[in-house]
Amino acid sequence: MEKEMRTPVIAGNWKMNKTPYEAVALANELKNLIKAPRCQVVICPPFLDIPVLFSELNGSCIKMGAQNCHFEEKGAFTGEVSVKMLKESGCSHVIIGHSERRQYFNETDETVNLKIKAAVNGNLTAIVCVGETLEERESEKTEEVIKRQIEGALKDIDELSFAKIIIAYEPIWAIGTGKTAQAAEADVVCGYIRELIAKKYTKQLARTTRILYGGSMNSANAKELLEQYNIDGGLIGGASLKAGNFAEIVSAADSI
Ligand code: PGA
Repeated sequence: MEKEMRTPVIAGNWKMNKTPYEAVALANELKNLIKAPRCQVVICPPFLDIPVLFSELNGSCIKMGAQNCHFEEKGAFTGEVSVKMLKESGCSHVIIGHSERRQYFNETDETVNLKIKAAVNGNLTAIVCVGETLEERESEKTEEVIKRQIEGALKDIDELSFAKIIIAYEPIWAIGTGKTAQAAEADVVCGYIRELIAKKYTKQLARTTRILYGGSMNSANAKELLEQYNIDGGLIGGASLKAGNFAEIVSAADSI
């Protein structure tokens, strides 16, 4: 019942793939395959593709997100992109705190928190990523790590702002490895995240929050993952680069 209240989100994280020309081709394939989904469909291409895709996606049911943003409004931050720039270029969403950014670009719980605040203040929906490493999972630290990441990310974020946030649980050991978390296993962690939200905010808000799973989700395993009570969609890397695969995941979400 409560699961039905939460519109699923299928988000494609293209990472550093697709030049502007290639991006247009993929977006057109997606537009042909995805006509009137019941779930919300978002693609997150590289920054340079965003303005090019703005007109391509205009009037379609596919929304656009960025893979990162800076937390300051403007200024001397060479190489960075602000929330306002993203908004003006057609983004409605932004991924924040992806494990690759935490691992390779010094993203911390503090910068994740600042970026979330900037995103929601600028009216973007933040897709906030959390997840444990294999070592942390094997030493039974999953809950401890998730709790630290969620608390850090949501520090001083009030209920009203939280309503503009989607959480993505992405166990690092499952990203790009072909190893998916067992559906029931992923559901337990997403349920734990929901509990943390209920404690920090209200049970009602926890019930309506969308929590996505990410990590080697594909057209073969999507349905089982998406059927889980606490999983409200997917953040998809590799399988979002092939229009047919991504469209099948969208259909899987719509069939539940
Ligand atoms: P993957 O990536 O689907 O290729 O595992 C997911 C992600 O990193 O968001």
